[in-house]
Amino acid sequence: MRKFLPPNLKIFHNTILPNLPLEDNSLALVAAFSVFTHIDDLEFAWLAEIKRILRPGAFFYASIHSERTWGLMKPGIPIHDALMHMRNHIPDYRVTEAFLQGAMPREKTVLYWDIAENYNSNVFHHTDYIRREWGRFFDVVEIIPCGSDYQDVVLLRKRP
Ligand SMILES: C[S@@+](CC[C@H](N)C(=O)[O-])C[C@H]1O[C@@H](n2cnc3c(N)ncnc32)[C@H](O)[C@@H]1O
Repeated sequence: MRKFLPPNLKIFHNTILPNLPLEDNSLALVAAFSVFTHIDDLEFAWLAEIKRILRPGAFFYASIHSERTWGLMKPGIPIHDALMHMRNHIPDYRVTEAFLQGAMPREKTVLYWDIAENYNSNVFHHTDYIRREWGRFFDVVEIIPCGSDYQDVVLLRKRP
């Protein structure tokens, strides 16, 4: 990114811990494409951190796997094929075609795998959960079905 993008961009590499090197109330927009689709334990801490760095009234755009995404499960859909590929490494659920084509098991369903990859879970959020739990941190402006390819987009706003 430093080689190919304009030099005025501030680029840094964060960790899984929500502790960004950015000032409070300093950003007009945060976008997270296919990131909360992989965050299990520290979800609320990340929401609090993003709220901290946004200006009052500013927007947070995040793509999610929702219950609608879960409903897309069939061979050829990337999320389906990725989960079937990992099925023998997912200890918490018996991942089969019938499981993936049944109802989403929990409001927040985490399919975690116990082998190292660049991420180690796929997370699904019911939109009721997003409105209730994420709504404690932000105003939920809109949830856009298929806003980012097969993922839905949640548009949130820090309260003024
Ligand atoms: C599918 S990639 C998306 C990357 C990029 N946003 C894009 O659109 O190309 C998922 C990203 O989530 C990050 N990630 C995975 N698990 C995470 C976690 N527990 N906490 C924070 N970030 C995580 C990965 O490092 C990776 O950058």
